[in-house]
Amino acid sequence: MAKFIVEQSGALRGEVEVSGSKNAVLPILAATLLSEGICEISDVPRLRDVEVMCKILRSMGASVTEDWDNHTITVEIDKVTTDEVPYELVKRMRASIFVMGPLLARTGKARIALPGGCSIGDRPIDLHNKGLRTLGAKIDMDMGLVEATSKKLKGALVYLDFPSVGATENIMMAATLAEGTTMIENAAEEPEIVDLANFLNKMGAKIKGAGTDNIRIEGVTCLHGTKHAVIPDRIETGTFMIAAAITRGDILIKNCVPDHVKPIIAKLMECGATVNDEVEGLRVRGDIKKLIATDIKTMPYPGFPTDMQALFMALLSTVDGASAIIETVFENRFMHAAELSRMGANIKVDGRTAIVPGKNPLVGAQVISTDLRAGAALVLAGLVAKGKTEISEIYHIERGYDSFSEKLISLGAKITRVED
Ligand code: EPU
Repeated sequence: MAKFIVEQSGALRGEVEVSGSKNAVLPILAATLLSEGICEISDVPRLRDVEVMCKILRSMGASVTEDWDNHTITVEIDKVTTDEVPYELVKRMRASIFVMGPLLARTGKARIALPGGCSIGDRPIDLHNKGLRTLGAKIDMDMGLVEATSKKLKGALVYLDFPSVGATENIMMAATLAEGTTMIENAAEEPEIVDLANFLNKMGAKIKGAGTDNIRIEGVTCLHGTKHAVIPDRIETGTFMIAAAITRGDILIKNCVPDHVKPIIAKLMECGATVNDEVEGLRVRGDIKKLIATDIKTMPYPGFPTDMQALFMALLSTVDGASAIIETVFENRFMHAAELSRMGANIKVDGRTAIVPGKNPLVGAQVISTDLRAGAALVLAGLVAKGKTEISEIYHIERGYDSFSEKLISLGAKITRVED
C-alpha cells in the first residue's frame, strides 16, 4: 500500500484549481440510472469513489465512457440488467447506497448489500428506508442485504428526523418517478443536494425547494438524458484554505463558490487568517496576522461542515491558545486526534468534544490516515511539523481528492508518494 512522506515545507504560495465535488458527482452518477437517454457529466473529479460508482453502473448494464482528458463521463442505460449491487463494490464505498432510490423507481426492485459502519460512525440507513417506505416501498433487511420492492411508488409527505444528506438524495431521486407529489420536510440543505436537483430537473424532473428544508417533487412518467457540469468541491476548497493558513502562506483558490464555504471563511477569519474574494477566486493568507484559537461546532449545512473538522483540528494545533471542537454530526469522528497527538498536538477527547491546547510545536511521526479528511489533515500537519511525517493508508485520501499531492507540490509542498 502507498504512503506519503511529507517534509516541513515552509509557506505554501501560488494558485490552485479546485476539482468538481465528490459528494455531488456520486449521487448524480447514481441518478443516471433513472434516465432512458444519454447523460454527459462534466467537471468530474478523478477519484477512486467515482471509479467504483462507474463499476456499479456497468454492473447494472450501463455503457459508461470515462474521458479523463476532459474530466467527462458519459452514461447510457437502455435497460437495467440487474437489481442487485454486489457486496464487493458496496464494501468499497458507502455511497453505493445512492443507487437504491433510482433503481427502485426505475425497475420496482433494488437489492443492495448493507454498507455497514465505518471509521467515522455506525452510519445506519434507517432514514433512507423510512422515506422509501413512506413512498410505498416494501423494505426487508436480511443477511446483510437490504431489499426494496414496489409496484409503483406514490408521492407522500416524508419527514426526516435528521436532515441526512444521503437520505434526502435517495428519496428525492426515487420521488422523481413516483405517482403524485412528494414533500421532504427537514430535508438536508447542502449545495450537493441543489446540484443533484438541478441535474434531475434538466432530465425532466419537477423539483422545487432544493437548498431549503422543504423539497417538493412532482412525479413524472420518465426522465431523459442531459448534460451537466458538477459544482466545485467545497471541502477541497476548504482544504486549500487551511493549507494557506497552517503554513502561514498565501494561496489563490480558483474554481470555487465562496457562498458554499461561508462557515469556513468565518472561522478562518476568527483565527486571524485573511480571506479575500477576488475576481479569480478566494485568496487566503496566513502570513499577515498572528493566528489564534477559536471554538468549532459541526452542524448540517449551512452550519460548520463535519468534513472540515479534522482539517481545522490540524490548524488549531498550531495557533496561540486552546480551542474546543464539538462534533455533532458523526459519533466517532475524532480518530485523527490521536494521530495528531502522536505529532505533538496533545489533544484531549471527551465524548463529542475535543480540546486542542494549541501552540505545541508539531514533529514528524508515523501516522495512519483513518479516513479521507483525517488523511488530508495529517498531510497538512506534516507540512509544518519538524522533520518527516510518514502517512500510511493514503488510499482514503485518493478516494476523495483529485491529484491532492500534485496540487500541494505545485504550491511548494515537499511530498513524496512511496509504494510500501
Ligand atoms: N444517519 C442516520 N440514519 C440515516 C442516515 C444518516 O442516523 O438513515 C446519521 C448518520 O449516521 C450521521 C448523520 O445522520 O450521524 C449524518 O449523515 P448523512 O446521511 O447526512 O451523511 P451521508 O449522506 O452518509 C454525506 C457525505 C459525507 C458527509 C455527510 C455530512 C457523501 C457521499 N457523503 O454522507 O462526506 O460527511 O454527508 O455532511 O455525500 C466525506 O466527504 O468525507 C464524507 C464523509
